Parts: sequence; structure tokens; C-alpha cells
Amino acid sequence: MAKNKLMKFDEMKTMERVFEPRMTEFMEGNYPLKGKWRTEVFKNDNPIVLELGCGKGEYSVGLGRKYPNQNFVGIDIKGARIWRGAKHANEENLTNVAFLRNVVDFVEHFFGENEVDEIWCTFSDPQPKKPNKRLTSREFIKRYKKILKPDGIVHLKTDNTLLYESTLEEIEEHGYEVLQNSNNIYEKDWDTFDEETQEILSIKTHYETLFANKGFKIKYVSFKVD
Ligand SMILES: C[S@@+](CC[C@H](N)C(=O)[O-])C[C@H]1O[C@@H](n2cnc3c(N)ncnc32)[C@H](O)[C@@H]1O
Repeated sequence: MAKNKLMKFDEMKTMERVFEPRMTEFMEGNYPLKGKWRTEVFKNDNPIVLELGCGKGEYSVGLGRKYPNQNFVGIDIKGARIWRGAKHANEENLTNVAFLRNVVDFVEHFFGENEVDEIWCTFSDPQPKKPNKRLTSREFIKRYKKILKPDGIVHLKTDNTLLYESTLEEIEEHGYEVLQNSNNIYEKDWDTFDEETQEILSIKTHYETLFANKGFKIKYVSFKVD
């Protein structure tokens, strides 16, 4: 492994709010932080928002800055990407931002029932050949329902038409309540968003920048999965 990557992995082990649970720690359903993120990690009673497949955690850090009275957890399997977000959060002393390195597939092992208020899926892999692996597929939404509060919200921001449209189909099939929806946020629907939503949607992730530069239209949908 590259020396640089090893250094990042070592540094992550010293970071207070970066967690890298091993299988044996959570597969029996006894992950020590499950149901206890507020008391054990954030030491407050504020809402918890997850960013799934967070990469470098631009949304976790960006929202963490904007909302000091909410808690954010970025989850990704790639350690070197998480390192970037964790480093920013540490440098800015964002004690309301944490990172968890593992697959999202196990998300219900890490959080307790009703522990999570909102979930962001930011430029998730579209998984063209494995629809069940899409982070907004019914398999994943089933997992989210186990940890989300009854009024919990899922946000999808993506450049990918297949992922966006399959999410809309899932929403329609299950009758989920759509809160915001646009197939072209910047060029078509920007003025329809209120100022707060515009600020939130202005946060740009690494992959968003890559795809937007190639001319892809950025799409956004938020919905309640109650
Ligand atoms: C296209 S990248 C987007 C990263 C970031 N959200 C962004 O917009 O720049 C997808 C990310 O999801 C992560 N990922 C994909 N499937 C995952 C899974 N099942 N569990 C955890 N991370 C996953 C990948 O490691 C990668 O960092």
C-alpha cells in the first residue's frame, strides 16, 4: 500500500470522531454506539443526519458548519476519502461531525431505532447492473426505516439519470411524500428553492464537480419514507 495511504490510515486511528468497527464488533447486533451516538459521541441531544457513501464528506462537513446544532455522520468504505473529511472537521473543530468507515449495507447495525433524523445520498454509485445495491433501492430504504424517526427524510443529489429515475419510481410505488424534486437544480429550478435550500444545495462534492464539468445536469429529490 502507498506510504501516503498508510499514513492517513494511521492518522485516522488517532482521530476522536472516526470509527472503524470490525465485523465482530457489530454483527451480533451489539455495536457499542448503536442507540448511543448522542450521549457517547456528540454529548448533546441534537438531531443526527447521515451522509451515505460520503467520499470526502463534503456534505457532512458543509452541513456541520452550517448547522452547529445538528450532528452529522459520514459513512464510506474508503478510508483515504473519509480521512479528507475527518481532517477538515478536526481542523475546524467541528465536534458535531463524525465519520464511520464501513459499508452502508450494515447501517442498521450501527444506529438504533429512531436514532436518525435525515439521510443524504450524495452522488451515490448508480449500480446499473445491480439495482438492489443502489442506495435508494427498496432494500436500502428498508434498512433506513429501521433507524429513521417516523418523519425521517431521505435526500438524493445526483448527476445520474438512471439512479434519479429509479428513485422516483421507488417513491411512487411506495407512496412516499416528496418534499422537493428537480431534474436540473441549477439551470431550471434554482429560483423555486428557498434561500436555505439554495445554500444547502450549493455545497459541491468532489464527484459533483467532476460530473457537472462534463455537462451532466444535477438532480435532487427529498422525500419522507414514513
Ligand atoms: C461516486 S462516489 C461519491 C462520493 C461523494 N459522495 C461525492 O459526491 O464526491 C461513491 C462513494 O460511495 C462509496 N460507496 C459505494 N457503495 C458503498 C457502500 N455500499 N458502503 C459504503 N460506501 C459505499 C464509495 O466508496 C465512494 O466513495
